[in-house]
Amino acid sequence: MSTPHHRADQSETVPASFDECLTRQFALCAALETLADTLPLNVDTLAATRLAEALHPTLSCCQIFEETYVFPIIAQSGPQVELIVERLRHEHIEDIYHARDVCDSVKAFAGRRHRVTANEEGYMLRCLFTSLRRHLAFDRDYVMPLYLQVRGC
Ligand SMILES: [Fe+2]
Repeated sequence: MSTPHHRADQSETVPASFDECLTRQFALCAALETLADTLPLNVDTLAATRLAEALHPTLSCCQIFEETYVFPIIAQSGPQVELIVERLRHEHIEDIYHARDVCDSVKAFAGRRHRVTANEEGYMLRCLFTSLRRHLAFDRDYVMPLYLQVRGC
C-alpha cells in the first residue's frame, strides 16, 4: 500500500526527538480545537489558513521521524509489538488523509470560496484532533516508555 505522505514539506524542520514529535502534534491538536471553538463567527482566518497549511507538513515530519527512528527500535521487542507498529502506521495514513480534507475545507472556509457549514467544519476538526490525541496518548503512554527501554536510556 502506498503511503500518502513520506515527503515532508521543505519548510518543516525535522524533529530532533520523539518527544518533540509528540509536543508538535499535541500543539496541532490544541490549535485545531481552538479553531473549532471559534466557529463560525470568531475565526481568525489568517491563523486558520496558516494552521491548514502547517497541518500536512507537520504531521508528515513527525510521522516520518517515528517510522524511521522509533518503530524499528520498538519492533525489536517481539512479534506482538510488530502488530502494534502496523496499526500505528495505518493510523498515520488515516490521519494524513483526514488532515488533507481538513486542510482543504479550512482554506475554503477561511477564503469563503466554499461555504461548508460551521457544523460540518467543526465536526471534521473534532474528528481529526480527537483521533490524533488518542494516537498521541498511546505514543506517550506506551510507545515512548518502550522506546526508551529498548534503546537503553
Ligand atoms: Fe504517531
